[in-house]
Amino acid sequence: MSTQTSQRSNKDKVLIFDTTLRDGEQCPGATMTFDEKLEVADLLDSMGVDIIEAGFPAASDGDFESVAEIARRAKNAVIAGLSRTGLADIDRCGEAIKPARRGRIHTFISTSPLHMSVKLGMTPEQVLQSTIDAVTRARSYTDDVEWSAEDATRTEMDFMCRIVEAAIKAGATTINLPDTVGYTTPQEYQAMFETVRARVPNSDKAIFSVHCHNDLGMAVANSLAGVAGGARQIECTVNGIGERAGNASLEEIVMAVRTRGDVLPYEIGVETTMLNRASKLVAAVTSFPVQYNKAIVGRNAFAHESGIHQHGMLKSALTYEIMTPESVGVSKTSLVMGKHSGRAAFREKLKEMGYDLGENALNDAFRRFKDLADRKKIVYDEDIAALVDDEIVTANDRVRVVALTVIAGTNGPQSAALTLDIDGDKRTHQATGNGPVDAIFNAVRALVPHSATLELYQVHAVTGGTDAQAEVSVRLSEDGRSVTGKGADPDTLVASARAYVAALNKLEINRARGKAGALRAT
Ligand code: KIV
Ligand code: ZN
Repeated sequence: MSTQTSQRSNKDKVLIFDTTLRDGEQCPGATMTFDEKLEVADLLDSMGVDIIEAGFPAASDGDFESVAEIARRAKNAVIAGLSRTGLADIDRCGEAIKPARRGRIHTFISTSPLHMSVKLGMTPEQVLQSTIDAVTRARSYTDDVEWSAEDATRTEMDFMCRIVEAAIKAGATTINLPDTVGYTTPQEYQAMFETVRARVPNSDKAIFSVHCHNDLGMAVANSLAGVAGGARQIECTVNGIGERAGNASLEEIVMAVRTRGDVLPYEIGVETTMLNRASKLVAAVTSFPVQYNKAIVGRNAFAHESGIHQHGMLKSALTYEIMTPESVGVSKTSLVMGKHSGRAAFREKLKEMGYDLGENALNDAFRRFKDLADRKKIVYDEDIAALVDDEIVTANDRVRVVALTVIAGTNGPQSAALTLDIDGDKRTHQATGNGPVDAIFNAVRALVPHSATLELYQVHAVTGGTDAQAEVSVRLSEDGRSVTGKGADPDTLVASARAYVAALNKLEINRARGKAGALRAT
């Protein structure tokens, strides 16, 4: 779809398999609601991701429904569902991907001695038979079946070759050899693919895939090394979110291949100018902030602060820039927004920033922008992004913050009078606490009784200046499942109330969809 694609059509195609909605979503606090998952999937589909792993259908009814709905909506990508090797899991996954134009069942089982004996309590022969049965069953639903050897990088080579051969013979069309625990190194991972491909007699009948976790910070380097070893599919996530230290980051892989085509001669179909938008959307819906110095999409990725660098940049951007901000969708600000800006300019600004809001969401966001512009001299792009992201995430919330008055200061007890709209019903409660934030949260607890525990409360300023908006993150946990809510406002206490309520809304949505306490894969 992109111009790069047509220019590189003589190069080997490497498929991008995005697992933000599965491996990414299952890390603590990154839970997304059904609507958020659809929004992320739509964006991934339109940016040219080849395969979207939409979820783990046997994990919960909520996961099943979102995989099925994403399968129904996808226009371009293959939609994959994850499944253990149990036949009931495979059947559930097969049903979930049925509506897809092109659907894939991705089944996995551990193959390392440690995992087989300690985690599964199975012998290698049982694991082998389970693989054959699962792949055979999966092929009765689709001819696109991926099989993964969980903990492949700690698996004995003889057994690996035997089981890979058996999986391909049973009908697997993609073989994924994950570095589940983020333990391997580039040389080792490359050699593993070279050896397996050379030793397995039917290896030419399947596409090999890399899947790397980032525990030692080598996930992207390892993924590219696996490709050098012959893999032609890379599994990755937007912003690198995922279990523990995360997965290989999609934007880093795509831009490494695009920028270093001289040594990475592969064709990738992802439209790079949509990377920044994807990063922002995933950060907003998961409430996982992107590290400032994160490659490609971090706030500082294209900022040049030191005098020497600025001097060079003024003469030629090539002195310190190996790729342009525009190539990843970071546009130079052309419209400066303030309290005199009208609706048309606001709509134009959102378009420039990559947002595509429906009429109702646009009206709500514009109202909040006007309110902000009245209180803040300069409204930066970051301010607009914070309030629009807030609007997108809270659009269908059952509980909303209506009003808040706080008494704070040296003479306690601090207190908060909070009014919430709960399913259209306005209720007010006054509470005290050990500080104003505690008082607000106590008021929320009184108005919406719940058993979730507070795991994290975090504040950061969206921009500089004392009139900057505060962006607050609140993580709540219930039944072993964590969700994060975010709120933005120039008043830190209002932002805190919004963030807590946003997290509660997410918990409520997940409860309703049977998500709490759901299963996880690695
Ligand atoms: O890390 C891993 O091994 C996985 C598999 C389920 C593919 O995520
Ligand atoms: Zn994984």
